[in-house]
Amino acid sequence: APDRRVKIVDVSPRDGLQNERGGMVATATKIELIRRLQDEAGVRCIEAGAFVSPKWVPQMGDTPDVLAGMPTRAGVTYPFLVPNAKGLETLLRLQGDMEAAGTAKKTDEIAIFTAASEGFCRANTNCSIDESLDRLAGVASKAAEAGLRVRGYVSVVAHCPYEGRVDPRRAADVSRKLLEMGCYEVSLGDTVGAASPSEMLAVLNECTRFARPEQLAAHCHDTMGSGLSNVLAMVKAGVRTVDSAVGGLGGCPYSPGATGNIDTESVVYALQREGYETGVDLEAAAKIGQWINEALGKANGSSAGRAILAR
Ligand code: HMG
Ligand code: MG
Repeated sequence: APDRRVKIVDVSPRDGLQNERGGMVATATKIELIRRLQDEAGVRCIEAGAFVSPKWVPQMGDTPDVLAGMPTRAGVTYPFLVPNAKGLETLLRLQGDMEAAGTAKKTDEIAIFTAASEGFCRANTNCSIDESLDRLAGVASKAAEAGLRVRGYVSVVAHCPYEGRVDPRRAADVSRKLLEMGCYEVSLGDTVGAASPSEMLAVLNECTRFARPEQLAAHCHDTMGSGLSNVLAMVKAGVRTVDSAVGGLGGCPYSPGATGNIDTESVVYALQREGYETGVDLEAAAKIGQWINEALGKANGSSAGRAILAR
């Protein structure tokens, strides 16, 4: 029988908060979000921050403080986004300092990211796809030497905000290169949140020419309301890792008009109904989604979360 377990990667502390415009989210709020996701909701993989340039993404500028202050739990992994050698050096230096001071290191995982279109790659990381792959190959090998696991992201696998429809073979080609440089998994990003299930499955089908579906993850933004359909289609096709964010938080500053990630609450609910296990406590996830949106002064973006809290 196929494995019914699906791993939820809650990306709310990173993707969820990186595009917040209403002033800097307090470091303590970010740390509390991480704590609640692991302790209360039972999330086993939490994307905790990004060692990117604070000039490009100011909201992630306090990631060193999040790393230092966040509580960790055995069995939980905490990927941090790393765009280049400088980001990795910063992470390794901070963890080295912590270990020297007698604190256990906080994470053993990073996430590297590139894109399936030149326009988005340039807008997001100021280089071509080939340049980014060169850069990331160096990051991946140094990370492996340092004992870090590496997750890969390919953005705009189906739609690009600058170039429109993207050829699934281009998305697959970049995914293959990330796997070849040592990523244990590649997360396929519908950054724009405009893809349909068949468009995402076309990308998956190209990728399963060289990868097992378990090496791939679904990262669906929900701008057009197709996020959950896309996630379910991918899981039914064999994908066993889903990226989501409590309260439907999220968005990339370099994907204009795109809204949040598909909410963890609706993903967990729908997967449960369909006979999959996520290990995530739905009630707790709903409370955290409500709390974090209130902390940001926003309406709860999860309709499943609102319904659960109203009953
Ligand atoms: P650049 O300007 O070309 O970099 O940016 P540079 O190497 O020329 O350096 C310029 C300045 O940035 C220098 O500082 C560097 O030290 C500094 P200065 O000398 O001017 O004071 N710098 C850094 N500072 C801190 N940490 C670093 C770092 N690197 C350079 N790591 C760069 C190139 C890649 C750094 C920049 O474009 C960048 O940070 N981009 C990241 C953008 C980003 O975080 N986007 C959102 C995450 S991706 C996403 O959301 C998609 C995803 O969710 C999946 C999906 O939905 O598709 C993952
Ligand atoms: Mg994203």
